[in-house]
Amino acid sequence: METAVNSRTANGVATGGAGNLVLILDYGSQYTHLITRRIRQLSVLSLCISGTSTLDAIAKLKPRVVILSGGPHSVHAAGAPSFPDGFIEYAEEHGVFVLGICYGMQLIVQKLGGVVAVGEKQEYGKMEIAVPEGEWGLYGPEAIGGHQTVWMSHGDEALKLPEGFTVVARSLQGSVAAIENRSRRFYGLQYHPEVTHSTQGMETLQHFLLDVCGVTADWKMQDVLEEEIKVIKGIVAPDEHVICALSGGVDSTVAATLVHKAIGDRLHCVFVDNGLLRYKERERVMSTFQSDLHLPVTCIDASEQFLRKLKGVKDPEMKRKIIGREFICIFDDFAQELEEKLGKRPTFLVQGTLYPDVIESCPPPGSGMTHSHTIKSHHNVGGLPKEMKLKLIEPLKLLFKDEVRKMGSILNVPESFLKRHPFPGPGLAVRVLGDVTEGNALEILRQVDEIFIQSIKEAGLYDSIWQAFAVFLPVQSVGVQGDQRTHSHVVVLRAITSEDGMTADWYYFDHKFLVDVVRKICNNVRGVNRVCQDITSKPPATVEWE
Ligand code: XMP
Repeated sequence: METAVNSRTANGVATGGAGNLVLILDYGSQYTHLITRRIRQLSVLSLCISGTSTLDAIAKLKPRVVILSGGPHSVHAAGAPSFPDGFIEYAEEHGVFVLGICYGMQLIVQKLGGVVAVGEKQEYGKMEIAVPEGEWGLYGPEAIGGHQTVWMSHGDEALKLPEGFTVVARSLQGSVAAIENRSRRFYGLQYHPEVTHSTQGMETLQHFLLDVCGVTADWKMQDVLEEEIKVIKGIVAPDEHVICALSGGVDSTVAATLVHKAIGDRLHCVFVDNGLLRYKERERVMSTFQSDLHLPVTCIDASEQFLRKLKGVKDPEMKRKIIGREFICIFDDFAQELEEKLGKRPTFLVQGTLYPDVIESCPPPGSGMTHSHTIKSHHNVGGLPKEMKLKLIEPLKLLFKDEVRKMGSILNVPESFLKRHPFPGPGLAVRVLGDVTEGNALEILRQVDEIFIQSIKEAGLYDSIWQAFAVFLPVQSVGVQGDQRTHSHVVVLRAITSEDGMTADWYYFDHKFLVDVVRKICNNVRGVNRVCQDITSKPPATVEWE
């Protein structure tokens, strides 16, 4: 199946059976990706596409349920995003269930002839709602007649419902919290069932999707894997060859292992030492690829080439672009060498792009932008030069990180490898602020990072942390070491918890741990006299410092 989320990609994805898909139309809510994940946790495949997608794009996916997400807009605002003309008729004609969440519910109310207005009381945060006695589609027997806490975030409210709709829950302040028209199969929640603050949100989604919409919970990673293998076999002809750049991270390793299973040694992996790797990383990952995974892999030491190109470059976007360009040149050279050896040029490149990368690379609907990449041109999706001659295979592009780990475990990728913290493609270039070639910034950073990570491992904390790393700041501060005044570098320690890297909280270490790490760093790493910890969440900060 060709998916609408990334038309550059040739491969498909297992849908768990036609007509069983929950499709989310994204209107820009910060929680949209979370709805997608929550539904997958129910073993139901859900995909997320732009809320302003064409009717054709929606119909092609044959959804059983369409969820209209929340969003920051008012339905009255000029240019407020909406579903395409004909969507209501399409849904009714094909028996598609439609659930609007917050903004999505207001869209339903407005488009079906009701009235949405600025509410007298705006409701944000945790609220109590009451579900009266009755027989409702949105709530199962255990919720009916009770109260529950939900997460509200709205200014507008439904003042008059369209004909045929019933209010099935209200907030204790009296405003509409849930509505439905069961015969037309339209439903609306004025709150976010997907966030954990909505204490019974998962039960509501489960009851609605499985019991009311009749979706079957049969989306299994084993099926996804088998389907992907079939798709890869289908797109790579028997005489074609594929190359894959291994970064040493979970994503590219799982992607390569999967493709290797599909096409065997017509896969040719390359591991590039770009001079921006962590302490002893080249030796460590090469040994896993060869001894544990038996992947056909060539190691290329291109560190001098990368660092030469990065000399004097301070701008983070520029650094990413240079690194991206050098990688592509190396892949092209590698492909050229393979062509000489095999008598045939490889035609595909495998990449471990994940779903959050794809979602974060789409412009928020209603933003007026045609290409967001509002935050940065990273995550492999926006950053590939157009002149790249290889076609892409992105077998993980619809999976979240935890799903990739599950797939890796089915593929027998060692547990210790699957649990490695994510490491960005541009490596330490996003962790040395400014010019990476200045002084011995990279070497200092490697040593600090190694002490931090080993201390975390020794304390048994590694698996409770999503990602931990050190950052090198191109500034110096005054210190006193061994009775001497020093003027040395400042480094920052960052450790976060996260579900998928799209939002994050900082990790709380106990004081003794921090005291010990800081002492070890200052005693062992020349050129560092000050260590800070970053305690900013994402948002407002990002994970990496750039
Ligand atoms: P940010 O900094 O955007 O990072 O909050 C979110 C997650 O993505 C990782 N990251 C990258 N991964 N190529 C990658 O493969 C990149 O260019 C890149 N930049 C950031 C980051 O480490 C975090 O896990």
